[in-house]
Amino acid sequence: MMADSAPLPTILVLASGSGTNLQALIDASRERDFPGEIIAVGCNKPGAFALERAAQANIKTFVVNHKNFGSREEFDGALMAEIRRLNPDLIVLAGFMRILTGDFVRAFRGQMLNIHPSLLPAYTGLNTHQRVLAAGDSHHGVSIHFVTEELDGGPVIAQAEIAVNADDTPESLAERVQLQEHLLYPIVVRWFCEGRIQLGTEGVLFDGEILNQPMRLSNS
Ligand code: GRF
Repeated sequence: MMADSAPLPTILVLASGSGTNLQALIDASRERDFPGEIIAVGCNKPGAFALERAAQANIKTFVVNHKNFGSREEFDGALMAEIRRLNPDLIVLAGFMRILTGDFVRAFRGQMLNIHPSLLPAYTGLNTHQRVLAAGDSHHGVSIHFVTEELDGGPVIAQAEIAVNADDTPESLAERVQLQEHLLYPIVVRWFCEGRIQLGTEGVLFDGEILNQPMRLSNS
């Protein structure tokens, strides 16, 4: 007799925009051996295309519209209530364009990942592609990190790097960075679901050992 298989870790994705990273995760989660299940997609913008992508994939969606709340605390409280109801093992921020309060972030410590379009700790915040070009950097990329109270400052799990070309524009950089995002996020989510990465007191643990440097996706 075959043993019942254990339930897969559950994933809730939060997005605000077009949801191309969400799509990459949906596509990955359809692979037969993917070790997690996307149970819901939450959004702060009612018309976001990410919601459409989730609906197409028969994934439950919910909207907590930040415009309906008088303060960040009230918005985060409502979002937290939705998340608690669904009780996911992992929260994946995929282009979720709201700054979360300390209470929210602490409530989900070690359970929340974010993707950021720069080689952190360089260029936290917005407009990273323009800033990389203005600085004349030769390299740029993407980082995936555990979310802590410091904006874009949590311990970095993995990065992918691209070379900056002389004729690059913010748009061309965004395009190449996004290609890397779509490769890297499913890999890191997979690691989390397999129990390979954790947030320890001193940083990221990978297979139980402190990760001294972010994992690198090589893409020459
Ligand atoms: C990505 O570039 C990500 O790095 C940033 O927001 C963008 C989201 O894009 N945090 P999409 O909605 O996944 O297409």
